[in-house]
Amino acid sequence: MASGVDPAWLPPAVFRPLGSRRTLIAGTGPLVDTVHGEVAGACARFGGRVVRDAQEPGAPYDLVLELGEHDPNEFGAEGFAVERADGVTRVTAAGQRGLLYGLFHVVRLGEAVFQGELAREVHSPALSLRMLDHWDNVAVHPVMGQVERGYSGGSLFWQDGRARGSRAELERVRCYGRLLAASGINAIAVNNVNVHETEAHLLTDRIGEVAAIADALRPYGIRTHLSVSFAAPVVLGGLPTADPLDEAVRDWWAEATGRVYAAIPDFGGYLVKADSEGQPGPFTYGRSHADGANMLAAALAPYGGTVHWRAFVYDHRQDWRDRSTDRARAAYDHFAPLDGEFGPNAVLQVKHGPIDFQTREPVSPVIGAMPNTRIAVEIQATQEYTGQQRHVCWLGPMWSEALRFRPEGADGPSVGDLARGGGLVAVSNAGDDPFWTGHPLAQANLYAVGRLAWRPDADPRAVLDEWIELTFVPEEIPDPARLRSGLHAVLDGSWRTYEKYTAPLGVGFMVQPGHHYGPSVDGYEYSPWGTYHFADRDGIGVDRSQATGTGFTGQYAKPWAEVYESPETCPDELLLFFHHVPYGHVLHSGETVIQHIYDTHFDGVEEVEDGRRVWAGLAALVDPARHARATERYEEQLRGAREWRDHINTYFFRKSGVPDARGRRIH
Ligand code: GCU
Repeated sequence: MASGVDPAWLPPAVFRPLGSRRTLIAGTGPLVDTVHGEVAGACARFGGRVVRDAQEPGAPYDLVLELGEHDPNEFGAEGFAVERADGVTRVTAAGQRGLLYGLFHVVRLGEAVFQGELAREVHSPALSLRMLDHWDNVAVHPVMGQVERGYSGGSLFWQDGRARGSRAELERVRCYGRLLAASGINAIAVNNVNVHETEAHLLTDRIGEVAAIADALRPYGIRTHLSVSFAAPVVLGGLPTADPLDEAVRDWWAEATGRVYAAIPDFGGYLVKADSEGQPGPFTYGRSHADGANMLAAALAPYGGTVHWRAFVYDHRQDWRDRSTDRARAAYDHFAPLDGEFGPNAVLQVKHGPIDFQTREPVSPVIGAMPNTRIAVEIQATQEYTGQQRHVCWLGPMWSEALRFRPEGADGPSVGDLARGGGLVAVSNAGDDPFWTGHPLAQANLYAVGRLAWRPDADPRAVLDEWIELTFVPEEIPDPARLRSGLHAVLDGSWRTYEKYTAPLGVGFMVQPGHHYGPSVDGYEYSPWGTYHFADRDGIGVDRSQATGTGFTGQYAKPWAEVYESPETCPDELLLFFHHVPYGHVLHSGETVIQHIYDTHFDGVEEVEDGRRVWAGLAALVDPARHARATERYEEQLRGAREWRDHINTYFFRKSGVPDARGRRIH
């Protein structure tokens, strides 16, 4: 690890079982060299031996890592098989990445993989694209700072308007790639989807800087992608138009793309936010988003690249007085009619919920509505709306719920299945902070992205267990059981705790405008952003039913269209997303909406107090610096949770006039 940087889930001690044994590595190639380097480093530290190829045939090995002639259909380029017989653990792979992932599998299993017998198991990723998008600006943006929605310091890739270039900085990028590879990530977009002027140049005259980053990530099997501006032919090329059907424009992209591949032969492709929140796009020229995406797909196709085209398209200049326009409908209205029109190397990247990474949203209806389109599901590891890495909020359960959701009901495919064509993409929560993620416990979210992309049906609790073992229990510690249960107590329910003290029952937002931290119940109520709660003296919520509302429920297939249509069947946690109800409406829980609001807000703060106490009790069992950082953040979380509680409870008490049935203090 780079010095001064938290080792996260790869502390040296996790390599002890491997590093104290004899390993044979068979195969050639740059990633096999990486595997060799890892094992050699571990052996140097822990006294084992590593041999490359069969220089010592017949020598007794404990572990064989081999790249060979295997049926690629069996486990693909990224999968591997592991087995143990006659005292030898054997990992075989058909591709170099598979060998790398096999190595990290061995690391994860620790001593267990060197004990007894193990029948052959094949592991391969369910999703072939497992990606992190960095919303990093090269230049510090006057409003957004360097990393848009970043809560972990500056960018890992860019500083002072240039790519980071010192040895130490590139070493940290390499370490980042290594951590990510150990979690299963294989792609990174290195700049913000909002492509400002400076960043537009990365595509052309500044591609060398991107190439240097790609060089640092490549040894860990990570391909580099770039966010590009749809207006690049105008802004960079001096053409009069960026019309995707214009020949000169198409030629410009073809040439620019050729130069990108000359600099980065394994370049992954382009990421595009078009006609969204002020970014340029094909609508300017009367063209469809399929026209736009396909133009870039055509430029990338000769080199095997992919265009990731975002579905986050909506009217951000809406009139709050107009209750017929519904932002939740926008992505489906724009994209569902285009199903089947996107080229084979175009992927439609869809946020998991219809609005914008709120603490609670239903699954976006777009995901189930485009069977003839490659869909990537986008989640947000950076905690824009979930406490900004000052609050503990373990998002594994939220993501897992979305990935396991079945848009056509129990017999249909899950969201995880539907993402096979495009992958899972997360907005990264990492930066140049010594703990990578600001809050050390937010590392769990970063870890989970790769693991859930590898297996979208994985149990998030098992993912958390893995992360805890690697990060906190690599060596003998006095009371591991107490540490494990303490960490689970702090993390397991933290998403629901956060939900309790913030916007209730799926209504969303209620955050401070702009930076989105802290409560402001009406902060967006009279704004153009399309994010309203419609609370008045009688009730609250957004009527999205077909019968009396915006008709959004009709974008779902059965059974969900029916389930969401009626407040009687709509799940409590999404009630106010789909319906406007009186404060006295009785939930399935048996509580009224107003009493639910009061109860959850008081409970949520108590849960934070409990979490803080549990964390304080783990001081002797956790690395002091890590412990101190999270302790400091707990103070802010508690302050913030109280602030939320008091804003929300007071607001609704004043609106409704209904007192708390339990007579607690509301200001
Ligand atoms: C949110 C976020 C923006 C971001 C946008 C996007 O609206 O606040 O900062 O640019 O999502 O996903 O493009």
